Amino acid sequence: MATVKNWQLGRDMEYPYEGNRPKQQITMFFDLNKCIACQTCTMACKTTWTSGKGQEAIFWNNVESKPYGFYPLAWDVKILDILGSQPWSGSTYKGKTIFEDTAMEEKVRGFLPDEMDYMSPNLGEDEAIRIQTTEGDYIKGPTHKNWGFYLPRICNHCTYPGCLAACPRKAIYKRQEDGIVLIDQSKCRGYRECVKACPYKKAYYNNTTRVSEKCISCYPKIEKGEMSQCVTNCIGRIRIQAYKSTDLTKIRKNNVADFLVHVRKIALPLYPQFGTEPNNYYIPPIHVDLAYLTQMFGPGVENAIKQYRNAGKDKELLSALILFGNTEKISDTFKYDEKTDEAVSYDTEGREIVRVPCTEPTYIRKVLNAKTGAFLTNNS
Ligand code: SF4
Ligand code: SF4
Ligand code: F3S
Repeated sequence: MATVKNWQLGRDMEYPYEGNRPKQQITMFFDLNKCIACQTCTMACKTTWTSGKGQEAIFWNNVESKPYGFYPLAWDVKILDILGSQPWSGSTYKGKTIFEDTAMEEKVRGFLPDEMDYMSPNLGEDEAIRIQTTEGDYIKGPTHKNWGFYLPRICNHCTYPGCLAACPRKAIYKRQEDGIVLIDQSKCRGYRECVKACPYKKAYYNNTTRVSEKCISCYPKIEKGEMSQCVTNCIGRIRIQAYKSTDLTKIRKNNVADFLVHVRKIALPLYPQFGTEPNNYYIPPIHVDLAYLTQMFGPGVENAIKQYRNAGKDKELLSALILFGNTEKISDTFKYDEKTDEAVSYDTEGREIVRVPCTEPTYIRKVLNAKTGAFLTNNS
């Protein structure tokens, strides 16, 4: 085991390999206050990449209802249960990660779901009470207060991938140029250690090809400077992609990813306590129980919600948020243009990609249309 730095845990941790951060890391952002679970992202991915034989129940992108929806069944509550208590002291994680809580014979702590656990991609959808399954009651205790939200999930292209650490064939690798994690299917022999070790259950075994597969971050698009299918097809405009600096001493305030993660700290990793340093970031929903959100996104939740509530007055933050879903091109930098009240994003050459108004224009029609003599009503 090597000792590596995990900034999301505020401490060093053990990992089977030496740390090898990529030059830059492609990251995806999700504003959970806007997701409506329309599953357009799910279908955009499915029709692009996973419509073949053996992929019927494989969804590289899925959207599940929380707190009672899961894909595969009970994926998070099971690993949370296995890890036991997960205390934080301020922004330092004091519990064990999946790499530190290992039994003698395993490199990474995890579990292998049953085949049937993948068959109902959103069992528990919009469930207000709790879900009862053949294996038992996954959420115990009284009915929670009236809240729920939708959680879109793809592979996190982790800095310390559990899948990569566990593969005996060394079939999984992380690209230096953009941090995308891929399975080399010619090396894979279907051992399924990756499926067992990924705490997010985002490596999938294909029964027909007899090898494993996972989200490829739509790398042919990323290489052309375009955002992934699940991002550009998102109807709710809840997503954006950007490169995040991997050297934390060189954070760029005018880069969307660095700004949201490190400057305003409004976007948080999913279950950082697992220890993989995931590279998808979530803006937490503002109406959900804080204890639940803290377990899911770590100790930064209260600040993130405060920032979000203040976004109307914080034009720089508003600009970053308003760029979500408004361009298909990956931006390098962004700014708030005070003169025009617009959010503007630029590519690596400094060329303008898009301008989006921060305030929606209002148009009021005249009640009498002088040309036709007709009276019109404004239904507002
Ligand atoms: Fe591997 Fe899972 Fe991390 Fe994706 S989310 S890189 S499959 S450990
Ligand atoms: Fe699918 Fe591409 Fe989204 Fe990955 S990034 S889940 S491959 S659409
Ligand atoms: Fe390795 Fe997973 Fe294949 S463990 S051999 S990549 S099934």
